[in-house]
Amino acid sequence: MIHFSPLSWPRCRVPGAGLDEARYHAAMEDAPTGLHMVRARARSLAAINRLVARSKAHWNWPEGYLDKALVLQKVTRAYLRHNHCCEVLDGRGKLVAFLSVVVSDARPVLDNLWVTPERIGRGIGRWACTQIFQWALERGWTELRVVPDPPAEGFYLRVGFSDTGERVPSRIPGGPLFSIYRIQLVP
Ligand SMILES: CC(C)(COP(=O)(O)OP(=O)(O)OC[C@H]1O[C@@H](n2cnc3c(N)ncnc32)[C@H](O)[C@@H]1OP(=O)(O)O)[C@@H](O)C(=O)NCCC(=O)NCCS
Repeated sequence: MIHFSPLSWPRCRVPGAGLDEARYHAAMEDAPTGLHMVRARARSLAAINRLVARSKAHWNWPEGYLDKALVLQKVTRAYLRHNHCCEVLDGRGKLVAFLSVVVSDARPVLDNLWVTPERIGRGIGRWACTQIFQWALERGWTELRVVPDPPAEGFYLRVGFSDTGERVPSRIPGGPLFSIYRIQLVP
């Protein structure tokens, strides 16, 4: 059984993120208030899938791509059961983001990170990443990978990931070529 305790404020330093001690504290002061994470609940599945669909639709995609991609992206009960999935709730308990980590070939991968479109660009993504970095470190993982949607690559660079140079084609014909990013986590 996966233990998913609420995450405490991080104490990690992330090389490449530019988060030295001073900037780290500045970032925390700017962090959105009232956010908290809970393990994703089966009863939230419909809301989670609506959020993912709306968030992914934030970008412009080639004709026909989005609908096919969302089929592959659908979060199921089994997915919630077998992976580390979190709802990010605001101070009023409203779902504002969803994220998940899967373990693939013994390596943790940030498989989902979606912020509700109304709250994009307000620090929720950074806050969620900082939480998940700390959570990963507490489980003894010192690196995390992500395969970003291309329009989100700049965000991952901002929070400390870097491009491995590895590429993976979309499973959907005509879809984008994805880059694999990674971050080294230091306790
Ligand atoms: C990508 C996403 C998760 C980022 O979360 P967010 O809450 O909007 O990002 P934040 O406000 O925490 O931004 C943190 C930093 O990244 C930068 N940033 C955010 N999104 C960016 C983007 N798409 N490209 C470049 N930089 C970006 C911000 O300007 C900010 O920079 P700063 O440190 O100089 O202030 C969110 O925008 C989102 O869900 N987008 C739509 C769906 C998506 O692409 N999800 C990711 C799939 S892999």
